[in-house]
Amino acid sequence: MAVLGVDFGTSNSATAVARDGKAHMIALEQGEMTLPTAVFFDFDRKAMLIGGAAGAALLAGEEGRYMRALKSILGAPLMREKRNLLGEKLDFIDIIARFLGQVKAAAETQTGERYERALSGRPVRFHPDDARNAQAEVDLREAYARAGFEDVAFMYEPEAAALANRAVLGQGDLGLIVDIGGGTSDFTLFRNGEDNIDILGSHGVRLGGTDFDRIVSVETVMPLLGRGSEIRHAFGDETHTAPATIFNDLATWQKIPFLYAPDSRRLAKDLLQYAVEPEKLERLISVLEDELGHDIAFAVEAGKIAVNTAGAGEIDLRVIERGLRVALGAGAVEELLAPMTLQMAEAALETVLKADSPPEAVTHLVFVGGSSLMEVTRSALGAAFPHAQVHHGSALTAIVDGLGLAAEAAFG
Ligand SMILES: Nc1ncnc2c1ncn2[C@@H]1O[C@H](COP(=O)(O)OP(=O)(O)OP(=O)(O)O)[C@@H](O)[C@H]1O
Ligand SMILES: [Mg+2]
Repeated sequence: MAVLGVDFGTSNSATAVARDGKAHMIALEQGEMTLPTAVFFDFDRKAMLIGGAAGAALLAGEEGRYMRALKSILGAPLMREKRNLLGEKLDFIDIIARFLGQVKAAAETQTGERYERALSGRPVRFHPDDARNAQAEVDLREAYARAGFEDVAFMYEPEAAALANRAVLGQGDLGLIVDIGGGTSDFTLFRNGEDNIDILGSHGVRLGGTDFDRIVSVETVMPLLGRGSEIRHAFGDETHTAPATIFNDLATWQKIPFLYAPDSRRLAKDLLQYAVEPEKLERLISVLEDELGHDIAFAVEAGKIAVNTAGAGEIDLRVIERGLRVALGAGAVEELLAPMTLQMAEAALETVLKADSPPEAVTHLVFVGGSSLMEVTRSALGAAFPHAQVHHGSALTAIVDGLGLAAEAAFG
């Protein structure tokens, strides 16, 4: 029975199957090999859109609810809270299940096969907390079941990338996969053999490109909306700094939808009432009322990528206000991201040390994942393994390639 390899990513997802010992990716959406891990509950069409169609509906200003980076919520009690969407009571497991169900149906339409089993990737660690990390896999397994898969097996995402990239290593070489994605950074140390690989150890941290977006947004965009701004006390002359949570949440992909509840609008209005800089809090209120959180997140992400590509760029905030923008330089972005890229490099070193191998023994460093395209991650990780040869795997498809290759064998 055919097995579907599924890379359910924080930012992007993809599927592949094996044919004649090779992985074949399945185009799920207009010929695209990956699709954004996003959903849009369209209130007019009374339908849940996924992928690029979900993003297009958001961009077009359709009435509805957009959600992205749902993988980051796995394992949290919030996953099982029900809310009303399109006249149904759904929890987040249902929402991920419907996303996976649509992916399954699209793959079946494309190939004419039926997939009752899935080999799914998973980060080495969904979360630093052990209980939440374990619960996250329970939640994801349940989402596959509700999506109509009879069985699901899991493989560490960087292990899958190792399978897909072993050809760049010679026999006996020691490779380290560095998979810097949207939500997590994952590492696998492996020895390349004649016709298989020997996995020596895997490790991961909950940090990725969505965290890059968050820190850039918190530090550069949120001050324009009142972060760090002073609020007068109702009585007397004293002031206090506006509470940080609302700004952090607005800068965090998976938390944005929760800010559109009445309580955060009320908080923003209370802040405005006593604000020393009311023009900033006015912006916060209009962002919450017009539900522009994801528009800001997309603008920040685009700015981050532009700086990486061109050395300088801007975050275009015209959705908030005509002409509003933040200029970004490569140096400033590097400084903002340095604590995170350092943690990623430490986690990569820990992977190797836990496998009782000296870092100098690593012969090949193989970068995959969208955030491995960031110069700051390349240089931080490269500096930790100065002796290794550096290879760049296919950033967005290496993991699904490996999952496709391993899919049949995963079920014996
Ligand atoms: N050209 C680029 N330059 C810099 N960053 C990029 C580029 N293209 C994509 N990214 C970033 O890569 C991230 C997505 O990478 P990827 O698709 O590998 O993650 P994912 O597999 O969905 O997440 P995870 O594996 O952590 O669950 C996003 O944060 C995105 O902003
Ligand atoms: Mg990934």
